[in-house]
Amino acid sequence: MEQAQDSTTKQDSTTKQEIIQKNGPILRVKDMSKTYKTPTGSVSVLQHVNFEVQQGEYIAITGSSGSGKTTLLMLLGALDTPDNGEIWLDTTAVHTLRGVAAADFRREKVGFVFQLFYLLPTMTALENVMAPLLPYSRKLDFNLKKRAQVLLERVGLGDRLDHPPTRLSGGEQQRVAIARALINQPRVLLADEPTGNLDPKTGTEVLHVLRELQESGNQTLIIVTHDPEIARTADRHIQVQQ
Ligand SMILES: Nc1ncnc2c1ncn2[C@@H]1O[C@H](COP(=O)(O)OP(=O)(O)OP(=O)(O)O)[C@@H](O)[C@H]1O
Ligand SMILES: [Mg+2]
Repeated sequence: MEQAQDSTTKQDSTTKQEIIQKNGPILRVKDMSKTYKTPTGSVSVLQHVNFEVQQGEYIAITGSSGSGKTTLLMLLGALDTPDNGEIWLDTTAVHTLRGVAAADFRREKVGFVFQLFYLLPTMTALENVMAPLLPYSRKLDFNLKKRAQVLLERVGLGDRLDHPPTRLSGGEQQRVAIARALINQPRVLLADEPTGNLDPKTGTEVLHVLRELQESGNQTLIIVTHDPEIARTADRHIQVQQ
């Protein structure tokens, strides 16, 4: 029996909480359940999950290994579909999206950051950041290369634009991945253990970059983490129970 529990772990300044509340919900999850069907039987992962995320909020999702954190993130980002319940991002019914509609939604509304970076090895940092929108570059109403460059500057890699992943440190690779996740100016940034593959010092630096982006850009940020220190820095904490 698993369920996500929602609790406020940190009271930031009242002003910040007030601003976030005023922004209103960007994401709403209603009575959502997910069961994986395998040849050897069913794995019930999430049951009757309910929560809301306000625009500009920074949420940490924690829970033991196998509790369903990655599953939850995949459902929020339309990489998978729930069996029951609803997921709303703004006015989009995410739970109804399939195939091309789900791909369009991910490209337009969501940014993903993964533990293992998943950069393309033959591309430079700049090309990696441009990659998600490269096939659509002619239809864009902004300069893709310029936006990618600005994002790499924002994550502190303005002097590494031409470096392929093999010539970047782990922390630098994750910062490229963060810039890539922001290339579409996503409504929500979903990060699955973004510091999990980094040493503590580098992990703290990467977290700092994410916080900075969230605070200065009013970027809604949802981070899955095993690290209680990271969870403590969040505005709110959602625990997935096994
Ligand atoms: N595609 C799948 N098919 C069947 N079972 C799956 C699938 N993906 C995940 N599971 C199972 O669902 C449960 C939740 O997996 P999930 O990856 O969401 O956990 P998690 O909380 O992210 O764990 P961790 O902290 O180890 O990353 C696990 O028991 C896992 O084995
Ligand atoms: Mg996981």
